[in-house]
Amino acid sequence: MASPEPPAKEVQEAPPPVSKKEASPKSGGEASPKSEKSPKAAAPGSPAGARAGAGAEGDGGGGDDGGNDPQREEGGGDETHDDDDDDADSAIGAGSSASSTASLTDSIFNYRRLHGRSYQSTQTTDYWAPNDEQQNEGLDIIHNMLLMLLDDRLFLAPIGDAPQRVLDVGTGTGIWAIDFADQYPTAEVIGTDISPIQPTWVPPNVRFIIDDCLLDWTWPPDHFDFVHIRMMYGCIPDWDELYGKAFRHLRPGGWLETLEMDIRIESDHVALPPDHIFNQWAEIFYRGGDKIGRPFTIMHGHRMRDHLERAGFVDVTERKVKVPLHGWPRDPRLRNAGLLGQLALDQSLDGFGMYMLTEVSGFEEVQARVYIAQMRRELRKMSYCGWCMATIVYGRKPLDAE
Ligand SMILES: C[S@@+](CC[C@H](N)C(=O)[O-])C[C@H]1O[C@@H](n2cnc3c(N)ncnc32)[C@H](O)[C@@H]1O
Repeated sequence: MASPEPPAKEVQEAPPPVSKKEASPKSGGEASPKSEKSPKAAAPGSPAGARAGAGAEGDGGGGDDGGNDPQREEGGGDETHDDDDDDADSAIGAGSSASSTASLTDSIFNYRRLHGRSYQSTQTTDYWAPNDEQQNEGLDIIHNMLLMLLDDRLFLAPIGDAPQRVLDVGTGTGIWAIDFADQYPTAEVIGTDISPIQPTWVPPNVRFIIDDCLLDWTWPPDHFDFVHIRMMYGCIPDWDELYGKAFRHLRPGGWLETLEMDIRIESDHVALPPDHIFNQWAEIFYRGGDKIGRPFTIMHGHRMRDHLERAGFVDVTERKVKVPLHGWPRDPRLRNAGLLGQLALDQSLDGFGMYMLTEVSGFEEVQARVYIAQMRRELRKMSYCGWCMATIVYGRKPLDAE
């Protein structure tokens, strides 16, 4: 087993379609964990690599054709979105997920089972966290915690009062997209994910699509008013590419907002030595992310801001927010957020840890469970006054004249 010792040096620095499919109800996912196949080794570092790994010959350049991608060929052909095709774009009358899931291919429900949990696996991604009820509840709690921290704001970018087309990439349970759709009933909100874990009963102006954001986006260019990307750490081999895609598919004047939370738990009250489990845990994820080619360090320093600027965004604004992870703050709003953070961690810690510890970092299952139990014990100590840093960055695609 790999030692949980952290390395000496800290890394810290100061739509549709790719055969996009309408997502199924959660129950669909629960019902069919068909495969018991063991997880793959480290996922390839790029979509092109993944396609090649999936049997595509000669696709070394990550080209646009996707011709060798079986997922693209299933279920109804090329549905490249077209601005003129308003009906197709509209969520209204988009059909129940029950009917649309009739065309879902088995592969989407081909969850990997690992240590009693289910995980989504696609051609590009062995996603590192489970996609089961337990983990999904944790995501919803984190959403509420962030809302509390951000004064009930779903986003910080000045997007105006009437966004029309909104995309939530890696939507998870879809909770952000649903809340946004409720808040802006005239907007059409699309949430995409590789996992069909979104609910069926949603506002009429929200739609969920199974889509892998690492593959080519087939939305029209200059299409969205707002693109939202949250907590995709450990999923993205090339953030320049992802933000570049958002840039391309935003209309001039449209906004991208992206939020990532650091894995490292810090304290202003207690000195945490490098071998403290909070630091070890972070280093395991940082090293593991490097190993699988999908880093967990995107939020360090000003990387997210720099990526947005490189992609061409202007008016780029960065905010760092300390997320309390227990009920230690005096301020009632922060205390409640901290209590939610604690609840989310309690709920999600196994799911956060098991894949990265066992499949990536060489722990035996039992060792991983013991290690996670140690981490949980430490996390429950309010006296640490622990927090982690959330980084929120938003930027605008310049107008043509700019
Ligand atoms: C930590 S969750 C965050 C969910 C949601 N954004 C939120 O803030 O609640 C990350 C999500 O990204 C999804 N994901 C991972 N890789 C993806 C990919 N290549 N394309 C689309 N979604 C992906 C996972 O299935 C998971 O639902």
